[in-house]
This record gives sequence, structure tokens and C-alpha cells, in this order.
Amino acid sequence: MISADTSMSRWQAIKMAAQFVLPYRRQVLYSLLALGFTAMITLSIGQGIRLLIDQGFATQSQTLLSQYVIIFLLLVIALAIGTFTRYYWVTWLGERVIADLRTKVFNHLIHLHPGFFEENRSLEIQSRLTADMTLLQTVIGSSISFALRNLIMMLGGIIWLFITNAKLTAVVTICVPLVVVPILVYGRRVRQLSRQSQDKIASVGAYVGEVLGQIKTVQAYNHQSIDQQQFHQHVEEAFIVAKQRTRQRALLITMVILLVMGAVGLMLWIGGMDVIEGRISAGELAAFVFYSVIVGSAVASISEVVGELQRAAGAAERTMELLQAPNRIQSPTTPQALPSVSGNITIEHLAFAYPSRPEVLALNDLTLTIQAGQTLALVGPSGAGKSTLFDLLLRFFDSQSGSIKLEGIDIRQLDLSTLRSCFALVSQNPALFHGSISDNLRYARPDASDAEVEAAAIAAHAHDFICALPQGYATLLGDAGLGLSGGQKQRLAIARALLANAPILLLDEATSALDAQSEYWVQQALQELMRGRTTLIIAHRLATVQSADRIAVLNHGRLDALGTHTELLQSSSLYARLAALQFQSQ
Ligand SMILES: Nc1ncnc2c1ncn2[C@@H]1O[C@H](COP(=O)(O)OP(=O)(O)O)[C@@H](O)[C@H]1O
Ligand SMILES: [Mg+2]
Repeated sequence: MISADTSMSRWQAIKMAAQFVLPYRRQVLYSLLALGFTAMITLSIGQGIRLLIDQGFATQSQTLLSQYVIIFLLLVIALAIGTFTRYYWVTWLGERVIADLRTKVFNHLIHLHPGFFEENRSLEIQSRLTADMTLLQTVIGSSISFALRNLIMMLGGIIWLFITNAKLTAVVTICVPLVVVPILVYGRRVRQLSRQSQDKIASVGAYVGEVLGQIKTVQAYNHQSIDQQQFHQHVEEAFIVAKQRTRQRALLITMVILLVMGAVGLMLWIGGMDVIEGRISAGELAAFVFYSVIVGSAVASISEVVGELQRAAGAAERTMELLQAPNRIQSPTTPQALPSVSGNITIEHLAFAYPSRPEVLALNDLTLTIQAGQTLALVGPSGAGKSTLFDLLLRFFDSQSGSIKLEGIDIRQLDLSTLRSCFALVSQNPALFHGSISDNLRYARPDASDAEVEAAAIAAHAHDFICALPQGYATLLGDAGLGLSGGQKQRLAIARALLANAPILLLDEATSALDAQSEYWVQQALQELMRGRTTLIIAHRLATVQSADRIAVLNHGRLDALGTHTELLQSSSLYARLAALQFQSQ
């Protein structure tokens, strides 16, 4: 379940979802008109059949026959046009409404506090954006109209049945449930098996994907024969389910033929007697069979879509919940103006625990000042709270107590985007997106000129390797920068931060991923980036700590010691230990 503070009833959710249809009243009207029109024409075809038989054939008049055939053809043309209109507008509605809904949900999600995505697995959110939306789309773009059409056909068909012949109608009222109920029960079983069969096929696909994706490991360990065996098993399981499904399906078809045709036969027998005895005409009987088939199939269709409508109601509920999830990190209604930022940050008695682990204080009474233009290195054992401090500076989370002030103003008083534009973040795993290199560099400033992009890349020592790529700056990066080395990615991230030109840098230094050569270039790039800016750097390298103006040693969310490298070697046993262990290897 998505944990939202709002819990809404299914009915509320459906009403909310219906709001998305409201802007398209005109299209709904077109759909309804076309729908009513086609249903009526379909129903009138029964009368056409009656006239054709009674007046056309029975009277042996060729002119009358031609007339009725022409009427019939006109009806067919009207039906075709009506069906086109209905299909087009109903499907259009489904697609349009879901496009709006998707956009709305995405626009909401992208602003939500990051904590939301920790509480709710992003996989689940993705499945909502795809599976639930697809379901809603089918329902709005076909099922509702389908149900409505069949409802009209059923009611119209029943009325015509009564008009045509009350005695036969009684026969039909008994026949329809007898025919429809077994078909429905069986149909449900077939559908369940279909779903199982699909799952089995998906698992075959997943197996192939995994094995072929790791083909070198598979072959290096001579694992092929085991994989062959396992794959064979998957395939056979899929076959067994498919076989069951096929048998049920074949039985279903047999049953449909037997029951439906049997019922029609019964009706023809009873009605035929009436025809022979002159109580009804042959045309009436034909029309009657036609209407009973329509009523029967309408009843079956309606009960088919009821299940789908129910599932769609669930999907609507989940989607609306997502849309209603409150954003816990928001700009204040009247944000304070921020004077020019040089990078003075005051952290006072900051205490914070992640919502998912409220019992552990990730930061505990942390007090620290950062002076403009200086470089402060953050060091400490893993889990000390270094990255958490960055999270709080960027207001991904709000602290439970204490405050962070930027240029003397509490960051919660500032407009969120103003606050965040004061920082450039280079994280430990450089975040690159699918797209060209220059798109990735322009991430923070889409309007930067080519010259500016190139200047940033030169400063970040990335220009040379970019130019060596087949398409230079236009080279497309795979997802997450596929195809680049760790050091190259890092330098791209640094160039991006340079281009962002923010007064304060937040750097999470990469540790072991880099070889000596890359590390040298990254170091050069970093120095370029830090020049003239206030920098907070989570440091893992001796060179970085040594060149920092001050070093803050964090431990268990607290400030353990503060000073320069030489000072701390004397004063902090934790720092001395870290220096001996962590910085030694470089
Ligand atoms: N998203 C999170 N949810 C819950 N706990 C977290 C989360 N991120 C970090 N923590 C916890 O907060 C503490 C500080 O983590 P972190 O700031 O990442 O440490 P560091 O960066 O110094 O290695 C650790 O105890 C860690 O387990
Ligand atoms: Mg960290």
C-alpha cells in the first residue's frame, strides 16, 4: 500500500477520477450519441429481418424484396458510420484522460519529498503508472462504453421480445440464464489459466534474459548443461499450463456451440410449431431468434466487464491515492528573500532521524558553522551522518529539531528552488541520464551556450576525452552513463557542477572506483571547481583533507572534533585512527 495520510473511499476515488473526464464533455456527448444510435440500429436490424422474410420472401414480390434489401443496406451503412464514430471517440476519451492523468501524477511525484520514495518502493509506483493506468485506459476507452451499449441492447432486446411474442419470451427468460451462467463460469476459469500461462511465459523470458546477459560467466563455469536443463523445465511448465488452457478453451467453445445452438433449436421448435399453426409469422420467429441472441450475448458481456470495472475501481483508488500523497517538503507560503549568497552556513543543535528508522538519530545535536569561501572536509566512519547532512542542507528532509541557516536565514523560510540553486551537488556515484553529453552537462542550466559548456568541460579536464568520443559532445550516453569509465563520469559530473555555477559545493568524494590516473584528473578538476566557492566535501583522500581549511570529524551523528589536519592528529584519537586506516592507502 502507498502510505498516504489520506485514506479515501473507493467512491471518492472514482468521483475524483471522473473529474478527469469532465473537460471532455463534448467528446462524451459524441460517444453517447453514437453509442445510442448504433444500439438502436442493431436492434432495428431484427425488424429488418422480419420484414425481409414476411414481406420480401413470403409475398414472392421481387420489388418488395429489393426495397427491403436496400433498407437493410442503408441500415448497415448507418451502423458502420455510427460504429466508427463511437469507436473513435470512446477510444480517444480513454487515451486522452489517461494522458492527462499520467502527466498529473508525474508532475505531482516529481515534487514529492524524497522520503516518500523510500517509504514506497519506486517499483510499486512504476507499476501504478503502467499497469493501473492501462487498466483505467481500457475501462474508460472501451469497457464502460461496452457495458453501456450492451445494457441498451439488453433492455431494447427484451422490449422487442415482449412486443414480438410473450410466450416465446417466457422460454427465453428461462433459457438465457441456463446458457449464460455455465459459459461465464467456464470463461472465468479459462481466463485464470490464461493469466497463469502468461506468467509462465514471462518467467521463461526472464530466465533467458538473465542467462544470456551473463553469458561469459555461464560459459566460464561450464554451466550450460545445467542451464539447459532448467530452461527445459521452465518451457515444459509453460507448456503444461498452455495445454490445460487449450483444453478448457476447446471445451468452452464446444459448450457455447451446444448450449447456444441448442437453445436456438428449442426456440425454433416451439416457435416453428406456432408458425405452422399460423399463430406467428416466419419473419417474427426469425426476429425473435435474433433478439434472444442479442439479449443473451448482452447479458454475458455485461457480466464479463463487471469484474473489470471492479478492478478498475481499485486502480482508480490507488492512482488517486498517489495523486493525493501530501508533499512534506514545501516552500513556505511567503518565503523570505535571500540576500546574495557567499556561503555562510550555521548549523545549530541539529537532530534528525530518518522517518524509516525513527529510533536512530542519524544526526544528534550537531552544531557547526561553515564560513564563506572556505573548504570544510567532513570525515568520519561509515554511517556517521555525513551524507545525511547533505540531505538536510538540500532540504530533502527536515530536521526534527535544531536549525540550518543560510546567510542568517533559516532554510525552511526560503523558497525551495532558491535554496537548492545555491548548491551544486556532485555525488559519489555521478548521476548521468540517458541523453547526449551536452544535455547531461547542461542539466542545471539548459540555456548555457556551447562555449560555456565547452569551457566547463575544459576546466573539469573532460574536454579531451569528450572530443575523442565518436560524436564528441553529441555522443549519446546509455542509461546511467553506460560506456564511460568511473573517472570520466566523475569529471562530467564536475563539469556539470561548474556550469551550474552555484556558490556552495557539496561534494561526496569517490573512493576506490578510480585508478591513479583518473584520480589525478578528477583531483585537478575538483580544484578548479572549488576555487572561489564555499565547499563541503565528504573526504576520503589524504590530499583532500590536507588541503581543506578545516576538517569536521563526525561520529554517530555528532561533531567529534574540528580543526586542521595537523591539529586533529594531536587532538582527536578518532581522527588519528581514521587517518592511519583510511587515508593511508592513498
Ligand atoms: N534513507 C535512509 N533511511 C534510513 N536510515 C538511513 C538512510 N540513510 C542513512 N541512514 C542511516 O543514517 C545514518 C547516517 O547515514 P549516512 O549519513 O549515510 O552516513 P555516512 O554518509 O556518514 O556514511 C546511518 O546509521 C544510516 O544507516
Ligand atoms: Mg555517505
